Amino acid sequence: MRRGIRAMAKSLAIEVWNPSGKHRVVSTKPMPGTRWINLLTLADCRLEICMEKKTILSVEDIQALIGNKCDGVIGQLTEDWGETLFGCLRSAGGSAYSNMAVGYNNVDVNAANKYGVAVGNTPGVLTETTAELAVALSVAAARRIVEADQFMRAGLYDGWLPHLFVGNLLKGQTVGIIGAGRIGSAYARMMVEGFKMNLIYYDLYQSVRLEKFLTAYGGFLKSQGETPITWKRAPTAEDVLREADVVSLHPVLDKTTYHLINKDRLSIMKEEAVLVNASRGPVIDEVALVDHLKANPMFRVGLDVFEDEPYMKPGLAEQNNAIVVPHIASASKWTREGMATLAALNVLGKIKGYPLWPDANRVESFLDENSAPPAACPSIVNGKALV
Ligand code: GLV
Repeated sequence: MRRGIRAMAKSLAIEVWNPSGKHRVVSTKPMPGTRWINLLTLADCRLEICMEKKTILSVEDIQALIGNKCDGVIGQLTEDWGETLFGCLRSAGGSAYSNMAVGYNNVDVNAANKYGVAVGNTPGVLTETTAELAVALSVAAARRIVEADQFMRAGLYDGWLPHLFVGNLLKGQTVGIIGAGRIGSAYARMMVEGFKMNLIYYDLYQSVRLEKFLTAYGGFLKSQGETPITWKRAPTAEDVLREADVVSLHPVLDKTTYHLINKDRLSIMKEEAVLVNASRGPVIDEVALVDHLKANPMFRVGLDVFEDEPYMKPGLAEQNNAIVVPHIASASKWTREGMATLAALNVLGKIKGYPLWPDANRVESFLDENSAPPAACPSIVNGKALV
């Protein structure tokens, strides 16, 4: 397929694929893999990928990318998709937008509805990858891996000592999750099965599948003469915070979960607890967290997301009891390529007038590289509002 590089009026560098394609689709970033590019170009799309070095594009940048004629846009969770951009896309004749992310708190869905623009996201492909990163942060925090690594690299290791980097044993402790959706449940299973931890969870909805697993796994351990794990669904998030040794946060970000973890709730957690967040930064009041970390040196956190991303609140970076990584929970090759494919197919499906796929979490058939994807939109969050 032909491609070329050109610069736009606002001098944003773009790479053009299949210049004679009938439908103009813009991707605000290069995305992993090539399948998404092939799927779009083979379906008669002219694809323009913004190659600008700048990490976060402004609303004005994206308006310039949309231009006068644009059928659909694939965008990123760092962008502000609201009234201005949906109005601009509609004026350019577009009706399709997809985030390359499962979360879409950067998108004003009401504004998209107003302009009749479909909004896609990419669930079903990042559950395990994200849960694995939350597990990695939990273990790294409990066993002080990053502090110990820095100590080695600084040349400070001069021999084994009984007290050197003593951390927490996970086996037999209690893991707590707040938000037992797909990612929270996958994390819970990894921690329970991997480390034989007991579980306490809080969610507005009962997680029947998770509970079935826990009961069966407890029964299995018992049948092997091992101590069975225990589990319970807590009536409040506070119960989880009070009882768990490791707490991982997996809610969506909305006004009910903004600053869910604040000064008061931190104060009821165990002094040596581990707190992990791979959901969205503003779920934690990060200023309160920094104070708590300072006052409680044995309390540890593993953070993938931050309240003012990409920035950290003052003092966080200096805390040895904090592990910080740059929003990489979904960053496995398979997942990121799959997210790109699903985002492209959301936009393509809307342009082609395909129906919605019945289960946005069961998307394996869209990801099989050896066959053509179904003629459907894998996941449109406002599909019902638009009919
Ligand atoms: C990543 O944070 C996502 O929402 O996909």
